Amino acid sequence: MITVRRMLQQALRVSVRNAFPLVKWMERWAEGASAKQQALKTLGDMPGPSVASFAWDLFAKRGLSRLHELQLEGVQRYGPMWKASFGPILTVHVADPVLIEQVLRQEGQHPMRSDLSSWKDYRKLRGHHYGLLTSEGEEWQSVRSLLGKHMLRPKAVEAYDKTLNGVVGDLVSKLRLRRRSQGLVNDIASEFYRFGLEGISSVLFESRIGCLDEVVPEETERFIQSINTMFVMTLLTMAMPKWLHQLFPKPWNIFCQCWDYMFDFAKGHIDQRLTAEAEKVARGEKVEGRYLTYFLSRTGLPMKTVYSNVTELLLAGVDTISSTMSWSLYELSRHPKVQALLRDEVLRVLEGRSVPEAADVARMPLLKATVKEVLRLYPVIPANARVITERDIQVGGYLIPKNTLITLCHFATSRDPAVFVNPDEFQPHRWLNKDQTHHPYASVPFGVGKRSCIGRRIAELELYLALSRILVEFDVKPDPGGISVKPMTRTLLVPENVISLQFIER
Ligand code: HEM
Repeated sequence: MITVRRMLQQALRVSVRNAFPLVKWMERWAEGASAKQQALKTLGDMPGPSVASFAWDLFAKRGLSRLHELQLEGVQRYGPMWKASFGPILTVHVADPVLIEQVLRQEGQHPMRSDLSSWKDYRKLRGHHYGLLTSEGEEWQSVRSLLGKHMLRPKAVEAYDKTLNGVVGDLVSKLRLRRRSQGLVNDIASEFYRFGLEGISSVLFESRIGCLDEVVPEETERFIQSINTMFVMTLLTMAMPKWLHQLFPKPWNIFCQCWDYMFDFAKGHIDQRLTAEAEKVARGEKVEGRYLTYFLSRTGLPMKTVYSNVTELLLAGVDTISSTMSWSLYELSRHPKVQALLRDEVLRVLEGRSVPEAADVARMPLLKATVKEVLRLYPVIPANARVITERDIQVGGYLIPKNTLITLCHFATSRDPAVFVNPDEFQPHRWLNKDQTHHPYASVPFGVGKRSCIGRRIAELELYLALSRILVEFDVKPDPGGISVKPMTRTLLVPENVISLQFIER
């Protein structure tokens, strides 16, 4: 049996190796299968940089903002699995779709992303409850089931399309207002942050909070600023051993102040909304909320749990939407043919109407493929993580002890030339071409399985409605004086430089 496998591996190696991704998977499968026959390797056998050289890369070579590029360098130096110490934490990096699948298939009943998160430390310190992003075990499962009913069912999400379209309408007006000479809008991401916050607030509170008004409320600006700073400080505080927090308290203190503001902001809006509701009830009026905070507050969960969940949902809905919108329009502006084809698709489905609705999207395959392609090139979460607490697991011939932090290198797999032909090119049609198949775990921007993104359907609907509407209203062109923009890691993957684009009235 072993000989047959060896022969198969040999035959595959000399064949047209890079031309056909399928060949590469078979090769890895064959390697994986034969590894089972061999003795399992341990973490001691795993390659990886020394503590000193990794720390040097991180701190001296701006590695914290280049963590996604370090994934690519890691694959080149060590292959698909390596270990590294991120500050006080030892983590195993996995950068191959087959191996990522192996990890996720063993994640257990209550998957855990990361055990050592500074986000959890903050909540413990302040006596806050955990939200869906940070809770674990049964506590996580119960809220996940409650929210899943309203966030994962297609019909429940489609019902938000009128609310979201109101926000999209305001975004279009705001873009018009912000246009300068030649229709140039500077720093589109800043507008899309506000769009993201207004969008998720409208779903959470069924009321508007003025992020897209001509004059944006100061508290909104501060909330967005707090998210940005908190993400920068997240990596820094996690990379520092705890004793260093005493010596250099500034990052941790700033991190806590940002969270304090975000929790206060969410609580303020929840209390305001629920008080208005209670007053209506007292007046004998009928209350029929269709917003998430209303559903959550009626489940009997402690108010502290409602506060923390709403805070985390607000946070999750801002940068994710903003980055994806920015990259989508950035790429479409640089690929006018794709933009024209996409606009044709949208106009064909709309048959003279100007506002796309949720039901229209089903007939817009290129729109869906465009968002998929954008998230492949720029996965908002470039590296995810899992800690398997129940038992040791086997991955790629290694025995990984339980409680090891496993980093899933999604940026590396989604740019892997063995999986995607011309991986750095924006080619939405690759998702529509039946002859080109990709390993299902190579690009998983929303994660997979029980702990995957609960906001996925809302996010996708928001993106589809906004992108299709913008293309109906404007021709989007690059900034004539602009440069090409690369991504950088700020916990999430965001544009490194300001993106400005021309929005030419159609
Ligand atoms: C382009 C947009 C978005 C992307 C790419 C994205 C991606 C992700 C990813 C990769 C995860 C981790 C999944 C895992 O560990 O397997 C996640 C979790 C999560 N996302 Fe999103 N997200 C997006 C938008 C949103 C929005 C709009 C919301 C809120 C409505 C949201 C709420 C959440 C929450 C609460 C979790 C934690 C789920 C849990 O642990 O059970 N996300 N997201």
